[in-house]
Amino acid sequence: MNRDGNCISLWQDMPDYISKNLPAEADVVIVGGGITGLSTALKLQREGKKCVVLEAQNIGFGTTGGTTSHLNTLLDTPYYQIKKDFSAEAATQVYEVTHKALALIEKNILGYEIECGFDRKAAYLFAHDEKQEKELDKIIEATNEAGLHIKESSDIPVPLSFRKAAKAADQAQMHSTKYLYGIAGAFDRMGGCVVQNCRATQVTHENGETVVHTTKGKIKTAHVVYATHIPPGINILHTRCAPYRSYAIAVTLNDENYPDALVYDLDEPYHYYRTQEVDGVKYLIFGGEDHKTGHEENTEYRFAKLESYLRKHYDINEVAYKWSSQYYESVDGLPYIGHLPGNPSNVWVATGFGGNGMILGTVASCILSDLICKGDSPYAALFSPARFKPVAGFTNAVKETADVISTLISQKISVEKIQGMSELSHNEGKVGKYEGKNIGVYKNNDGRLFAVHPDCPHMGCSVEWNQSEKSWDCPCHGSRFSHTGEVLTAPAIKGLTCVELVEQESIKQKV
Ligand code: FES
Repeated sequence: MNRDGNCISLWQDMPDYISKNLPAEADVVIVGGGITGLSTALKLQREGKKCVVLEAQNIGFGTTGGTTSHLNTLLDTPYYQIKKDFSAEAATQVYEVTHKALALIEKNILGYEIECGFDRKAAYLFAHDEKQEKELDKIIEATNEAGLHIKESSDIPVPLSFRKAAKAADQAQMHSTKYLYGIAGAFDRMGGCVVQNCRATQVTHENGETVVHTTKGKIKTAHVVYATHIPPGINILHTRCAPYRSYAIAVTLNDENYPDALVYDLDEPYHYYRTQEVDGVKYLIFGGEDHKTGHEENTEYRFAKLESYLRKHYDINEVAYKWSSQYYESVDGLPYIGHLPGNPSNVWVATGFGGNGMILGTVASCILSDLICKGDSPYAALFSPARFKPVAGFTNAVKETADVISTLISQKISVEKIQGMSELSHNEGKVGKYEGKNIGVYKNNDGRLFAVHPDCPHMGCSVEWNQSEKSWDCPCHGSRFSHTGEVLTAPAIKGLTCVELVEQESIKQKV
């Protein structure tokens, strides 16, 4: 199974998913074959809607294939923050709906007999210092108020020192892509249709008819759901969600010291731990080192930091997997689920899940299904994409990172003239200069060079090379491209423009 990066995650050893041909029409077309898209498709198909899922690559290609699959109702945005920025009632609603989503995942697993290593586990939070202890006190109080019982704990299941810890029961974990394949299969058996390698390129609304145009033809539909992590094209939500990368490693140990729980410290960014058995082998999954997309020149260093931190506390046998993944933080900490602003009323979206995509993607399936089938949801107002809550502390990623560059150079340039390329190692990429203008160049293992115009086709920011995942990442809204410029992740719809690199001599001869 492919993913949107070069590193292989723990979840990618899956057979090819067999997809169907594109039908001419559907009640609902869902763009994106990850946890959000397939959960929504399954929900709607059960409600009697004829659904089609369009996936530009293969199912699980995006963040579902790169998650660490913590299923928690103890969210990245703490309940005290939700209470402060929204209300106590909002915090209760968030707990209620995430609790229901976790129960729905469990129900699907039991009902459709999905073997995905699902296990209920306790979750622990722990504080290293006085400041974190105060933070933890606030978390304990507000989490209990919201409805999730969490209490102080005198121990933690990881070998680290701590000042204070808390434990919440009934959280969970699973193998993300085995679950995804399981619900895709259930959807399929109910008459649903998944079409892979089918990119939605445009949606038109004419004479009361909505048509999704794709690389495999057109499909008429009553509703469109964008489950693409962030909607493609240009939308107000791109200024209200900031893209981040998170890093994970899966290691085997020389002893049996695997944590039997989900564990989180309160560092900034925080570290997260859990254990998953895959094909009879236990792995300790450890993650963290998050940063804004396109803001780290040395992504390999992030993995090295994770590993050296873990080695201080565990007897590691082997680092079996390491991978990074993308998520979107919303401006106010809650996801946007509902009608996509600036579009006709039959266009829907779910985005801004932070690091809780598996649970919030499932929450989105319940809300979108209610909105489409019943016209309303008890959670519609809370998660409305049309809400605007300016919250202090959120940095507008666009303002901070926009580095809009002038239109570049010709399509064919001389290799020798690119500054900074002489020190480019094999398997490395960077943005260099050609006659004063930027150019992105990647040298593969065989020494072959690939060049692109680094101006992102979404809104013109300059992309940065991601050395670990071998991709061009845009710091503004998180579009990502392969080394040859093809779109890996939205919001960009078009790829980077390729530049042909030639020897200086051959340019002269043509002139
Ligand atoms: Fe918006 Fe690149 S993703 S400018």
